[in-house]
Amino acid sequence: MTNTHLVGLQWGDEGKGKDVDILSEKHEVIVRYQGGGNAGHTVVIDGKVYKLHLVPSGILRDGKINIIGDNVVWRPQAFLEEVAALEELGIHIEPGKNLIISDGSHLTLPYQQALDAVEGGKVGTTGRGIGQTYEDSRGRTGIRAFELFDPSNLEAMIKQNTDYYNHKLRWHGPDVEQLSHNQVFDDLSKIREQLIPFIRPDTREILLKYDGSVLFEGAQGTLLDIDLGTWPFVTSSNPTKGGVYTGTGVSLELQRVIGILKAYQTRVGNGPFATEQENDTGERLRERGKEFGTTTGRPRRCGWLDLFAGKYACEVNGVTEISLTKLDVLDDEGTIRFGVGYELDGKQVDYFPRFQMGKCEPIYDEMLGWKVDTTKARKPSDLPKNARRYIERIETYLDTPVKRVGVGKGRDQTIEFD
Ligand code: IMP
Repeated sequence: MTNTHLVGLQWGDEGKGKDVDILSEKHEVIVRYQGGGNAGHTVVIDGKVYKLHLVPSGILRDGKINIIGDNVVWRPQAFLEEVAALEELGIHIEPGKNLIISDGSHLTLPYQQALDAVEGGKVGTTGRGIGQTYEDSRGRTGIRAFELFDPSNLEAMIKQNTDYYNHKLRWHGPDVEQLSHNQVFDDLSKIREQLIPFIRPDTREILLKYDGSVLFEGAQGTLLDIDLGTWPFVTSSNPTKGGVYTGTGVSLELQRVIGILKAYQTRVGNGPFATEQENDTGERLRERGKEFGTTTGRPRRCGWLDLFAGKYACEVNGVTEISLTKLDVLDDEGTIRFGVGYELDGKQVDYFPRFQMGKCEPIYDEMLGWKVDTTKARKPSDLPKNARRYIERIETYLDTPVKRVGVGKGRDQTIEFD
């Protein structure tokens, strides 16, 4: 009987899709508790590629209940398109049964996305209206899923919100396009009936009923957390452990908290990145790791693994075990470096300086690489000695066991450690 929290320990894109897919087999319920269509989980099964943005990865297995929780924000049209794409790939979806949306989740409508398009540049957002939807949620003006049941109130809210957003858009210049509230309402009305069967008021009760078999699927990563990440270059939700509770309304005991850590570091969008390699190393990691965004296609910034930030992320989430992903991407490296501390103004810091990371110099440790193809390794002893040493260095530094290592995209390219 295990409830599991799966959380990214970096800036997202750690390769959580594969882990969540493997873990979903062992859980009855899989729940997304934060974020929205800004996420992109890629799962490869028998060579077939599934790209999930909003729908929990448990949908790829028969008989699982998948929940989109309270603190998730979603675009109605994009949700239906994702469902249709999954059905086209042969995935069976029963609204309100194997795919459920909490009536407390938040709708992202075109006006929020339009404002993100003009405001999101500084942070380098995914342009999905994520931050604006969370702002409206905190400002108590947003539209939660339950409003879809009352069209006349919905219309009034949409009118008020669109008018307000048009003011904000106008502030950005006369050329920025204004939106028509009639259009926004009409477009939503056309798909309202399709959405309603997915929405339920009792997601909390479902989670309580399945206590002991719930997988909380985090999106993005700890360093992108609105409160605990490298603010302001963050997303607007809480991928970290606290988000599990506020995003679902249950305080189930989490027996396993699995921190997903990529064997190197990446970031999309702007903001500090202490161990970034804007050189041949970064290029090699990007090419070998195919580091281009699932959601936006943007090339990701690449660098060495930052264990100092990783330690902070383990502490924030109370991580009980690490899943190390994409180890094979390092197969060709002669020397492997990893960050183990930061210097600020010439002095080593003894706290995680999340607001000053941009002014910090990383302190590196290094070791010889292994220069062997690891993609066919299936058990720890198949790995070259130096790869095992790298894993041990990570365990020691993070004081947390590495329980799983990924050496490729396929479900089978995974090594379990005792
Ligand atoms: P937003 O979530 O679209 O508002 O974007 C805020 C920041 O989070 C930007 O730097 C994005 O690139 C980043 N971000 C959002 N979602 C993801 C993700 O799933 N993986 C990696 N970065 C993300």
